[in-house]
Amino acid sequence: VSATSVIVRSARPEDWERVVAVMPEWWGGRDLRALLPRIFFEHFGSTSLIAERDGELAAFLVGFLCPDHGDEAYIHFVGVDPRWRRSGLARNLYERFFGIARVNGRTFVRAVTAFVNHDSIAFHRRLGFTLLPAGQTFDGHQATPDPSVPEGAVVRFELTIDAPPSDIEG
Ligand SMILES: CC(C)(COP(=O)(O)OP(=O)(O)OC[C@H]1O[C@@H](n2cnc3c(N)ncnc32)[C@H](O)[C@@H]1OP(=O)(O)O)[C@@H](O)C(=O)NCCC(=O)NCCS
Repeated sequence: VSATSVIVRSARPEDWERVVAVMPEWWGGRDLRALLPRIFFEHFGSTSLIAERDGELAAFLVGFLCPDHGDEAYIHFVGVDPRWRRSGLARNLYERFFGIARVNGRTFVRAVTAFVNHDSIAFHRRLGFTLLPAGQTFDGHQATPDPSVPEGAVVRFELTIDAPPSDIEG
């Protein structure tokens, strides 16, 4: 194992502080910290992931199994240190999350992103997510009005994930 290998583990409440400390920089100056209060790390740690490189935060994913929608899992945030982008880190975290979702009987994953976030839209498309129709277009993308985000509208993504492997032989 090299000294710079990435370790991925479940999130813990004490991770919250260093995650929000990097968010404005990782989001290119957009300040979305208010959308990620500490309760996410207190209640969804087992479905959220932290990637560390030499003990330093390299990436994170915050997601949960939707309590009200038995088929659905939701990814609320994903972020990768700009120095480690385009190396498969976010894909790795998404695939691990899909694994958690599958073993918990979830068949699709949803996520949203601000319509201004072209990197995120490209990333989700590349992973096979479809953009849910919204009836309105912002910046050339189908986007749903959402006053809870600074830009006022979000692009909604959905991906069907394969069923968990059956443990019944034959
Ligand atoms: C979006 C983000 C998470 C992608 O992370 P990443 O680790 O660079 O993505 P990966 O390296 O795992 O890329 C997975 C695939 O998406 C593609 N992709 C990633 N970013 C892309 C971009 N900006 N444009 C085009 N394709 C992109 C990669 O080429 C890769 O394709 P491949 O596996 O077929 O080669 C990262 O850019 C980020 O942290 N952005 C700021 C925070 C943010 O916007 N988060 C999402 C909204 S909550």
